Amino acid sequence: MSEAAVLDAQGVTVRYPGTPPVIAVDEVSLRVAPGETVALVGESGSGKSSFARAVVGIEKTAGGTVLFQGSPVAPLGLRRRSKALTSIQMVFQDPSTSLNPRRRVGDQIADGIATARARGAAGSTVGEWLERVGLPPAVATRFPHQFSGGQKQRLAIARALAARPSLLVADEPISALDASTQTSVAALMRDLVAEAGAGMLFISHDLAVVRRIADRTHVMFGGRVLESGPTAEVWAAPRHPYTRALLAAIPEPDGEGRIPVAPSVADRAVWAEVPAVLR
Ligand SMILES: Nc1ncnc2c1ncn2[C@@H]1O[C@H](COP(=O)(O)OP(=O)(O)OP(=O)(O)O)[C@@H](O)[C@H]1O
Ligand SMILES: [Mg+2]
Repeated sequence: MSEAAVLDAQGVTVRYPGTPPVIAVDEVSLRVAPGETVALVGESGSGKSSFARAVVGIEKTAGGTVLFQGSPVAPLGLRRRSKALTSIQMVFQDPSTSLNPRRRVGDQIADGIATARARGAAGSTVGEWLERVGLPPAVATRFPHQFSGGQKQRLAIARALAARPSLLVADEPISALDASTQTSVAALMRDLVAEAGAGMLFISHDLAVVRRIADRTHVMFGGRVLESGPTAEVWAAPRHPYTRALLAAIPEPDGEGRIPVAPSVADRAVWAEVPAVLR
């Protein structure tokens, strides 16, 4: 890979205070190349969101480096981020967090379009972005509280994509959508990001969706990456027992394209195979 990575995280560590302190992310390294979608999977509490917040610079790191297009991402609050970093966009796990409750949703998408235009990127209209994520253009004048959780996720995705980011960090962006539309919305995100030569870090519990859209997959457990590789290879020949347990817990989508909710892997017998040091 000769082209500079859009995201190059090396040995990132995130620690939360407590007795004992929580090591939420333990020396995680991950690269996202231009045009690439990289998935981060792993069960609840494995450190995915902490890592995502660290790479966009809104969570303090206790170690490691994060380079965005070759430059360091400083741990700054969202509002204090430099102009250069506006080409990183994040869709948060809780969609209410991604949207300003006091502003009309159309205005928020328009902000994204303005961000894109300021950097010379082509911008579509607010109505076009709403339609792309499956919402009627007429909803532009409404406020976030007038939408369902799934609709808010669609709006957060539209706002983030409208800014034409070089890097999109999407933390469970489709979890509140109907199972039948999760794959299509995720594929839309992947396609729009890749078309622009941008990269996406895609965090999801939904391995069926990950399998369809991610070029590479990293499997996280207890703050560490246990296994990573091209998605097809991870699925065809998972090396780590934990990955095998995760994959075994996910049935194939049925003929209608519906993706069943993954059962927890925590109580599976195969769990016993995970080395004690990683539990
Ligand atoms: N602000 C915080 N203060 C203290 N501990 C935290 C904080 N945020 C997360 N943690 C802890 O850090 C660990 C990783 O949490 P994180 O939210 O990153 O996991 P996750 O993989 O995103 O989980 P989920 O799939 O449920 O979203 C957990 O043990 C969690 O309890
Ligand atoms: Mg999370």
